[in-house]
Amino acid sequence: MKKMTTTKKKEVKKNSFVQRTGKEKIEKAKAGKEAATTETRSKRGFNVVRGMRDVLPKEERYWKALYHNAEKLAEHFQFGRIDTPIVEDANLFVRSIGKGTDVVDKEMYVFEDRDGSKVCLRPEATASVTRAYINGGMWNMQQPVKFWYWGPMFRHDRPQAGRYREFNQVGFETFGSDEPALDAEIILVAYNFYKDLGLSTQIHINSIGTPEERQRYKTELVNYYRTKRSYLCEDCRLRISKNPLRLLDCKAEQCQPVKEDAPQIIDWLGEESKSHFMKVLEYLDELGVPYVLQSTLVRGLDYYTHTVFEVYPDVGEEGAQSALGGGGRYDLLAEEMGGRPTPAVGFSGGVERSVAYLKDSDEKGLVKVPKLESDVFLAQLGDEARRRSLQLLNDLRESGIRISYNFSKNSLKTQLEVANSLALPYVLIIGQKEVQDGTVIIRDMESGVQETVDQKKVENILKKKLGRV
Ligand code: HAM
Repeated sequence: MKKMTTTKKKEVKKNSFVQRTGKEKIEKAKAGKEAATTETRSKRGFNVVRGMRDVLPKEERYWKALYHNAEKLAEHFQFGRIDTPIVEDANLFVRSIGKGTDVVDKEMYVFEDRDGSKVCLRPEATASVTRAYINGGMWNMQQPVKFWYWGPMFRHDRPQAGRYREFNQVGFETFGSDEPALDAEIILVAYNFYKDLGLSTQIHINSIGTPEERQRYKTELVNYYRTKRSYLCEDCRLRISKNPLRLLDCKAEQCQPVKEDAPQIIDWLGEESKSHFMKVLEYLDELGVPYVLQSTLVRGLDYYTHTVFEVYPDVGEEGAQSALGGGGRYDLLAEEMGGRPTPAVGFSGGVERSVAYLKDSDEKGLVKVPKLESDVFLAQLGDEARRRSLQLLNDLRESGIRISYNFSKNSLKTQLEVANSLALPYVLIIGQKEVQDGTVIIRDMESGVQETVDQKKVENILKKKLGRV
């Protein structure tokens, strides 16, 4: 190897210095860019995934009101709570809801699990509850077996008002009897779910009979629609061969006259199916549950037989666009899923849509949903007092007295302003002196009068003042 001259060595050194600084510069720039990207990202934050939403505390009272009502109804009508997994075998829904339906063909969140099996986020819960009934051998129990649930469902739908990709359903399902009284009971529960909160609804109802009756009807429907082909929208032309029952769902203006004159499924039902339907309607009449016969109502899931229904907000002339909930009989599903023949009937309400209807009615003053308000405000002055206040808050937990407070504020003036803005009638004040004396000041916010009471007696005194005894 040739020996390097001193000048050359110096040059190399100089160059490597230049190179190093260049490299460093690039790295520094890269790091800066990365930092800048991270910064912009963290500044911009992350958006919620399309079709999903946060439920914020300002909606809490509506969710609570609906949940409590569902719980009360379940208890009264003796539905037992069931919680099934969110992740299920994808085929469970392909088998039950059916190929060719929008939910299965277009909307399921299907993915491969780590072991290669095909699983999905449940798009609804009726199939899951049926699976649970079969898995648990519940036909051995006293029939009917009745369940209720509340939880998230997932459908990769086109997001719009009232339509999300993650949404919640409340549901009631009854297994083990084909008695029309149980169809009526489910419809009554669905109706009461809204009525008890002061919400008026319209129940649209129809019967789609047995699969054989439906098949004969479909043939008739296809024959009729074929003769009207030239009047139909693009979608309906496809539906004639693909999914004829969906012809009845079409909202396109140009298809309405054709739909109006279309054969009605009710005319294709046999005596038994007709008699079942008539009995359900008689029960509803007796119960005073209002309904509208809707000959075009067929529902979008394959498992239904006989009674089908949907619940709409009663918003007068303008008519509601989307259903609050829907349900019906699914007498053949358990058997199709490998269980024993088990007639069943159920309903699911969309929670987000129900919350929106309740909130809207509350804002219009048509119903009153109690606000989650506090009874008193607790103000503290100084470290010692804050410690004592936290203790008092904890002690008063069982008392039913709801207390607002703000431990990040120290000045009494600011805390009284907060109490004022909340329009609370009383403020409890704990300062240095009260900590030492074991007392608390109760201030009447209207009169401004203050009294000092023993901390041990504050619960009873407040209860009296609030009219809770
Ligand atoms: P469904 O009609 O598909 O029926 O859904 C019931 C309700 O869930 C709808 O009326 C609607 O309020 C709500 N819902 C459906 N999709 C969405 C969405 N993308 N965003 C927001 N809300 C939605 C069923 O799921 C059946 N399992 C009902 C049933 C129970 N049948 C017998 N038992």
